[in-house]
Amino acid sequence: MRVLERLDQLYEIGGGPGANRLGGSPGEDEAHELAASWMREAGLEVDVDPAGNLFGRLSGSDSELPEVWTGSHLDTVPAGGRFDGALGVVAGLEAVERAGRQARTLTVVAFRDEEGCCGPGCVGSRALCSGWLDPRPEAFVETHVEQGPRLEEAGVPLAIVTGIVATARGEVVFEGAAGHAGTTPMAGRRDALAEAAEFVLALRDAAAEVDGAVATVGRLEVEPGATNVIPGRVVVSVDVRAPDVERVAAVLAAVPGETSRTDAVAMAAAPSDALRLEVERLGLPVVELPSGAGHDAGVLAAAGVPTAMLFVRSLNGGVSHSPDEETSAEDVALCVDVLAGALARLSSVE
Ligand code: HGY
Ligand code: MN
Ligand code: MN
Repeated sequence: MRVLERLDQLYEIGGGPGANRLGGSPGEDEAHELAASWMREAGLEVDVDPAGNLFGRLSGSDSELPEVWTGSHLDTVPAGGRFDGALGVVAGLEAVERAGRQARTLTVVAFRDEEGCCGPGCVGSRALCSGWLDPRPEAFVETHVEQGPRLEEAGVPLAIVTGIVATARGEVVFEGAAGHAGTTPMAGRRDALAEAAEFVLALRDAAAEVDGAVATVGRLEVEPGATNVIPGRVVVSVDVRAPDVERVAAVLAAVPGETSRTDAVAMAAAPSDALRLEVERLGLPVVELPSGAGHDAGVLAAAGVPTAMLFVRSLNGGVSHSPDEETSAEDVALCVDVLAGALARLSSVE
């Protein structure tokens, strides 16, 4: 299957283990060049915007009509999976080719630096939506692996996403006093890492107290970082998510300093209905799920673009952000089928 072959080609970029195409890296650039070549092969008009977002357009018969977009991102976390982001771009291209020329222009988008491993993320889609999203697309549909266990547990291949959680990301800096590990008495030490460790556990406990909230410290920088030196400074990353901003704020009560926040955002009825009709056409159960992961779709929806997401079952217990990320060829084929039909519905004009 061409989609899986292309996902394999992308997976090889950056060397293993896993996918290594960090935002802004040569690996992400190489992936964009490869995707652009596939778009050209398909006869699409290729364009790159000032933020480096990649667009492949299948012109519609009425160029005055706002476009219909589909896509996702090609960057990954370190040692990431084969499907996160890339599936949405590769399956989106396949679906546009299958839908063929419609009244509206059909556009495949690859947004830059969605993961934001060391920053807020969704760099390309935020730049687009804060700058020059004119004319606004008629709709945006993002296909993405679920990155969780719910579809696998339910035995269902696809889901329509209802919305994306509220998030907060930031860093907390702990200042101590570097000193000799052997000659500095325990009493009176100002050990920045011990203080940071207490914070990490307090954040975990704060999130456990709030229904539906999650909090993660994924990155810890210890200075000077030597075995025999008491840490003088520690930087800790913070990632908090919850179904609404109020519950994010409740967890953030345990976090000193500022964070970059996004509200919870709902998906739009029209593009979601187009997906739903296609899922029903295939005789599949219609499952609706909220997304605990952030996506470019959340940025476009917040910018007022009618947006929908199609989740594809993740296997192996739903693991993601890992080389063990897995989705079956059958489910990939189904998502392309549903997406192609939905794009045709959204881009034809009765
Ligand atoms: O972190 C996220 O939710 C996404 O994978 N960028
Ligand atoms: Mn993703
Ligand atoms: Mn991701």
